[in-house]
Amino acid sequence: MEKTYHIITFGCQMNERDSETLAGMLQAEGYTYTDDKEAAEVVLLNTCSVRENADKKFFGVLGQLKHSHEANPDKVVGVCGCMMQQQHIIDMLKSKYPWVDIVFGTHNVAEFPRLLNNVQTTKKNIVEVPEDEEAMAEGLPAKRAYSFKAFVNVMYGCNNFCSYCIVPYTRGRERSRRPEDILAEIRDLAAHGCKEITLLGQNVNSYGKVKHGEGSYCYKDEPDGGVDFAKLIRMIDEIEGIERIRFMTSHPKDLSDDLIECFRDCKHLCHFFHLPVQSGSDRILKEMNRHYDREKYFERVEKLKEACPDISLSTDIIVGFPGETEEDFEGTLDLVRRVRYESAFTFIYSVRRGTPAAAMENQVPEDVKHERFNRLVDTIHEIQEEISKKYQDQVLPVLIEGPSKTDPEVLTGRTESGKTVDLKAPAELIGQIVPVKIVKAQTFSLYGELA
Ligand code: 5AD
Ligand code: SF4
Repeated sequence: MEKTYHIITFGCQMNERDSETLAGMLQAEGYTYTDDKEAAEVVLLNTCSVRENADKKFFGVLGQLKHSHEANPDKVVGVCGCMMQQQHIIDMLKSKYPWVDIVFGTHNVAEFPRLLNNVQTTKKNIVEVPEDEEAMAEGLPAKRAYSFKAFVNVMYGCNNFCSYCIVPYTRGRERSRRPEDILAEIRDLAAHGCKEITLLGQNVNSYGKVKHGEGSYCYKDEPDGGVDFAKLIRMIDEIEGIERIRFMTSHPKDLSDDLIECFRDCKHLCHFFHLPVQSGSDRILKEMNRHYDREKYFERVEKLKEACPDISLSTDIIVGFPGETEEDFEGTLDLVRRVRYESAFTFIYSVRRGTPAAAMENQVPEDVKHERFNRLVDTIHEIQEEISKKYQDQVLPVLIEGPSKTDPEVLTGRTESGKTVDLKAPAELIGQIVPVKIVKAQTFSLYGELA
């Protein structure tokens, strides 16, 4: 019988990248991918815990698998990712979903083939969730989602402890990969036709700043000063074949002048910056433990615009953080209008058990949070509409990614700023960066033709 697998990934790009490794390891064991989660012999759910709705979605999907699991005694259902690093989730799985075969965490992804083999031979369920970071595994196989663009981890974990955020608890302390390992991975990707690299980390700006555990890289240990994030970008910029470099996510407090200068100097660095601000109120930023204020944020943005006048900015914003007043919220609206983001991810504050903000007494009522959220989204949309109009009739380089989801006759691609462009073009252009003239510029998408 053919051995098949299916992986469902929730959450951020770090999880998507981990799922590529899990898929690569399964393929190395002779499994092939299937779309059908009911029929698959191995199903993995890679979870996210950043907000409550991610938790809810996970339990919904998990419940759907119970029936096919009962019907096939050989089926293995595994769950992993950030949610598994929380004891109350493990307790809930044990009591309500005792049929789940494998539970593992964010620190032992590389161990999955051994866990799978154990379950298949002993038929006994396994819960193995180390709390401490294990050595970073290098050289694991990966089944990449695309051949022409790829995610590359540069660091794992986060030391910032923003007061609302669960990530430092689920992903552990910051550890950076060695530059030689990162560069070797990118050279190999480039040799196989990859054109766009997105460097990943919870806070890429602090790449190499601190050492944690065996094998983690710290530039302060190097006699020649080593490689910080800006230097790493400059080294990647020299790699033959890499035409676009992106990175996420950055913390404003760690955004160095050196990194800003990369936007002036590096040929392949996309003129795009995702710089989460979270709030436009100094009081709330302090409560959030963000270590910058509005002025410092504006100053960084101005410097970025000076170095790179056509830079496109993106952000993350939380509304309804405990204690947020109407005046605080208006500070956020004002900041959004001043910075003029081309894209923004907006979130309603979600209580995360175990974080300092969860214990704050002055939680904002749900209806107030929703009303502010809607006003924020409207303000952002107005700005986006204006920014989008500027693309009308421009010729932009577009990386063609594949057929459009809505119309298979049409291809879809992305500009440097990450906006999608639909166009009629031959399928041979998939994976190529081509000049496209924008013939219709809408708020969220652009329509073009080959220039
Ligand atoms: N509630 C709402 N949004 C959150 N984020 C992180 N934690 C929470 C929370 N508890 C948002 C932040 C972060 C993004 C990835 O998710 O804006 O930048
Ligand atoms: Fe969470 Fe803050 Fe770390 Fe980002 S920087 S992962 S928001 S703690």
